[in-house]
Amino acid sequence: MSNIGTRLIGTGSYMPDMKLTNEMLEGMVDTNDEWIVKRTGIRERRVAQNTATWELALGAGERALADAGLSAAELDLILVGTATPDFFTPSVSCMVQGKLGASRAMAFDLSAACSGFVYCVDVADSFIRAGKAKNVLVICAETLSRIIDYTDRATCVLFGDGAAAAVFQASESEEGVLTTYMRANGTLGECLKAQCLPDEDPLDGSPRAVCEQRFLHMAGNEVFRFTAAAVPEAIDAVLHQGQMTAEQIDWFVLHQANVRILQMITSRYGLDPEKVYVNIDRYGNTSGVSVALCLDEMRKSGKLKAGQHIVICGFGGGLTYGAALIRI
Ligand code: COA
Repeated sequence: MSNIGTRLIGTGSYMPDMKLTNEMLEGMVDTNDEWIVKRTGIRERRVAQNTATWELALGAGERALADAGLSAAELDLILVGTATPDFFTPSVSCMVQGKLGASRAMAFDLSAACSGFVYCVDVADSFIRAGKAKNVLVICAETLSRIIDYTDRATCVLFGDGAAAAVFQASESEEGVLTTYMRANGTLGECLKAQCLPDEDPLDGSPRAVCEQRFLHMAGNEVFRFTAAAVPEAIDAVLHQGQMTAEQIDWFVLHQANVRILQMITSRYGLDPEKVYVNIDRYGNTSGVSVALCLDEMRKSGKLKAGQHIVICGFGGGLTYGAALIRI
């Protein structure tokens, strides 16, 4: 195979219908719409009720395949980025592979939380450039509501559920994923942690440590500080590697964690705010789903056009971060 590029050929999303608004949260914890909008930009988020992560992932995957005009049998690889899989095994990606009938596809999950989509794009690009895959389905899916403590106002106002997907295909032309930059800083992992497993001795059942964090805990200020350094580092790196300037980029599609982070990037690079896509007001922080969801909305509304250059960037749990420069 003499392909030289990894082209985006389809997107799809599958968001739960149930909207949890700021007003509804006012009745659940000591918070208010004004605080949430001012500090985060979020107005509502979606919550999956009686829906598994794999079901959301399947819905998004089917829509992305339909958009790409590709059949499941043509897939070589299915990657699912998730921090909330339904089982230890089978993986979400194998559940999706089976339901889709993607008979030729290798399938595995990738755990990089809010960087899930950009990490998956890098892996998809690597498989395609190595000649190991021609068609790759990348899905990010989360049911974060299962690990959110709805009595903790520091986290329950932030996160939401959903799934979004993208199909990438080997290309003979100079388009698609141009360059990537992926990093991690595990020394800060405790800043964003959910510890769902009981920590017991496997043989006698005696507790080894108290499971303090069944629910997601975030040291918001520390993660914010990390983000303030990590996001420009990743963006600078892909611009440098791709020999492009921020002015030449048509869209910045960043993980939707907090609208203040998006505003910080807008002012740091002196960008037209219109170039920084925002949908956090409607979905909150959906972890790895967010960048894929933005791309799907942009594609469906005609904002994403052939020949444009975009920078995607993810950051969060792990802690992980990364960016990719893509020519549409
Ligand atoms: N409603 C009302 N008040 C709240 C609140 C809520 N939901 N949550 C916290 N507060 C209070 C705090 O108790 C604190 O009160 P105090 O001043 O009396 O102590 C005050 O608001 C300010 O809290 P603080 O945590 O300093 O707010 P902040 O402006 O830093 O915003 C986050 C908090 C979580 C929104 C912000 O830090 C953030 O977005 N961090 C991480 C983002 C990120 O990069 N994530 C990526 C990985 S997912």
